[in-house]
Amino acid sequence: MASLGVNIDHIANVRQARQTVEPDPVTMALLVELGGADGITVHLREDRRHIQDRDVELLRATVRSRLNLEMAATAEMVAIALSIRPDMVTLVPEQRNEVTTEGGLDVAGQQQGLKQMVEQLQSASIPVSLFIDPVPDQLEASRAITASWVELHTGTYAEASWSEQPFELARLKDASARARSLGLRVNAGHGLTYQNVEPVAAIEGMEELNIGHTIVARALAVGLQAAVREMKQLIQNPRRDRLFGSQHG
Ligand code: PXP
Repeated sequence: MASLGVNIDHIANVRQARQTVEPDPVTMALLVELGGADGITVHLREDRRHIQDRDVELLRATVRSRLNLEMAATAEMVAIALSIRPDMVTLVPEQRNEVTTEGGLDVAGQQQGLKQMVEQLQSASIPVSLFIDPVPDQLEASRAITASWVELHTGTYAEASWSEQPFELARLKDASARARSLGLRVNAGHGLTYQNVEPVAAIEGMEELNIGHTIVARALAVGLQAAVREMKQLIQNPRRDRLFGSQHG
């Protein structure tokens, strides 16, 4: 059965929108773990648009499940990973002007540079996963540069129309089978939702799904009413009255 890694970047997105201290992804990671997550995933982007260095440092000290650090394949990020020592590094392509990660890593096109980074991290006992499109040449290139894991990009499946989705699912299944025959371990993620996750979770050999946006969106849906109720209660029944009695107010 696939396990669940929860990507908490969007919690940091809300904090950064105000450049303030809440919501704190580090505190929220504890709740995510209490909810049953098998791992916490964060993407430390080069432009630091959501997750900050401080988050990754604190998460390393507090996460009790597994910490998966998504990052671009750059010397700066490799140095950070070697110092933080996450439980896994997932290498992703990164462009400054993208809203979120678009497309998989072109492992086949940049084998030499990537191989060096994979070896550097794995020789420090940090397993490396490569976020790739579910296509044979990327799988073979991932194997060739000795990565232990791949994360299959599920974005095309997630965005496919109802009639195209079975085809995209078949591509993911074939890629998973091919990866395993090459000796690679398989994760998947991007764009998965409460509506489309089940067939992907059922793919044979699928070890972990990394899911972020839909869970944070759902948290708003299930938590918003309670949050408003608490604020209304505080306005109508101020806390100092409850603490000291109204004669001291
Ligand atoms: N996996 C990778 C490599 C990603 O870059 C992302 C998005 O940051 C995810 C999984 C999670 O995607 P989503 O937020 O769409 O669930």
